[in-house]
Parts: sequence; C-alpha cells; structure tokens
Amino acid sequence: MDKQSVLISVAKLAKMIIDAKQTTVLTGAGISTESGIPDFRSPGGLWEKYAPEIYGNIHSFLKDPTKFWEMAEKIAPNIFNAKPNPAHYALAELEKINMIKAIITQNIDGLHQKAGSVIVYEVHGNIERLICLGCRSSYPKKQVIKQLKKEKNYPPICDMCGAPLKPSVVLFGEDLPKFEFYQSHGLSEKSDLMIVAGSSLEVAPVSEFPILTIKYGGKLVIINDMPTHMDKKAELVIMGKLGTVLPLVVKKVKELLKNKNN
Ligand code: APR
Repeated sequence: MDKQSVLISVAKLAKMIIDAKQTTVLTGAGISTESGIPDFRSPGGLWEKYAPEIYGNIHSFLKDPTKFWEMAEKIAPNIFNAKPNPAHYALAELEKINMIKAIITQNIDGLHQKAGSVIVYEVHGNIERLICLGCRSSYPKKQVIKQLKKEKNYPPICDMCGAPLKPSVVLFGEDLPKFEFYQSHGLSEKSDLMIVAGSSLEVAPVSEFPILTIKYGGKLVIINDMPTHMDKKAELVIMGKLGTVLPLVVKKVKELLKNKNN
C-alpha cells in the first residue's frame, strides 16, 4: 500500500473509531515483531524453526516436556527483554482517551501491559507463572528462572509432586482460560467495531471473534503487513507495519476529537 492510500485509510479508520460506540482490538504476534519477537507464520517465524505439533502441543509436552523446554530456553530471553514498540503505546493511548474498550491479545509477552494498556484479555495465557501439571501448584516465573540458573535441570519440576512444570501459556490441544475467553466472546458480540492488528487469524477459537462482531452487526478492520483470509469480510484493510500505522491512527483520532470539540 503506498503512503497516500495508507493515510486515506488511516483517516477512514480514525473516523470509524470516533463514531463507534464500542471498539475492541484483537492483537496477534505481528504487533510484537517490531519489539524483536518473531511471529509464528511469517517467513522465518517460530513455527518454521520448531514444528508446532512437536514443540507447541500439549500432548507432545506430556509425552516429552524436554522438546518444549529446548525451544523455551532459546526464545525466552528475547521475550523477557523485549520492550513495547510504538504500536503497543498507540493502543494504550487509545484506551487512555476512551477510544477503545479493551484489547484481546493472543500474545503472551505482556507488552500491552508494559506499554500502559489496562484492560487486556490474554486468551493464550502469559509467561508470568508456571503451573505443575500434576498437582496444579503455581509458581512465579522469577522463582523458577532463579532455580534453573542454579541447577540447570530441564524441564523444571514441581517441588511438591515432582511433575514437570509448564508456563501458563495455552498450547495447541489445551482449552483457553475461561474468564478471558468469555469476556472476549462477550466483547466481540457487543462491539460495533473490531480492529484486528497483526494476526493471521489462522487459529480458532480466537479467529471466530471477528466473525461474531460481524454477525451482531459490527464492522471489522484489519491492519496487517500481509493479506489474511478474512480480508474480504473486512470493511477496511490497511496493509502496513503496525509500528507506523497505529501512531498515525492515534494522531488522526486526536485531530478529529479536537475539531469535534471546537
Ligand atoms: N506489522 C503488521 N503486521 C505484521 C507485522 C508488523 N510489524 N509483523 C508481522 N505481521 C503480520 C504477519 O504478516 C502475520 O500475518 O502479523 C501476522 C502474525 O500472524 P501469526 O504469526 O500467525 O501470529 P498470530 O496470528 O498471533 O498466531 C495466533 O497461533 O501458534 C499460535 O498460539 C500461537 O497465539 C498464536 C496463534
């Protein structure tokens, strides 16, 4: 998309945000790539290096947790040290000026919260705690990392029952956390505008949320640097880098709000 068409689309989206009664944003890994965290399905993405059926699936984890931990040991430092990028800050700003109601995120990196977003539903969990698959004990991430640094024994096991620990992220084959799922389901139905930012929309049940918004009369906008299979259902598609597009949206929204109040 050339710069001119991006600016025209940004102006259209800004107007839709101002006119909407309730806007929800659904984010995917694409919003964190400019923070240095690879996404999953772009060329060079995580699933190109690690087959998801082996490294990202609960059944393979239960058979042999070492595979998952081999990948986690390599990618975790990058996620822990990542900082929010202008796209995260732009969404935090839109929440602050009451232009978006909430973020539904598939990301586990916590960057939305680090950027200042408050209402964030992490439908694929996060890396803040580790859960024992035996007795369901829950450990803070920092405590387990400290122990791993000292003892270097992978996979980390539960102090209570000796079963392997797993970060509180949702692997393929696992249910989504109930609270976040039902909150997001309700938001998708009630929002008259859903903006999808940086997701291929390949994975259910999250990929059904935009369909719910449309089913209940809402509009869908997709901002992505590649086409998605849902583009034809969208009212507006902005092809571009989120770190560039979202700050432009915030700027335009503020301009329109100022004119509206004058
Ligand atoms: N700006 C805009 N779009 C981007 C950017 C960027 N800077 N970087 C990447 N993208 C786009 C990619 O082109 C891709 O279409 O973001 C999308 C990311 O898609 P995926 O890698 O499939 O990530 P996501 O949609 O979040 O995956 C959903 O799949 O494997 C599971 O649990 C995992 O939560 C993940 C889920």
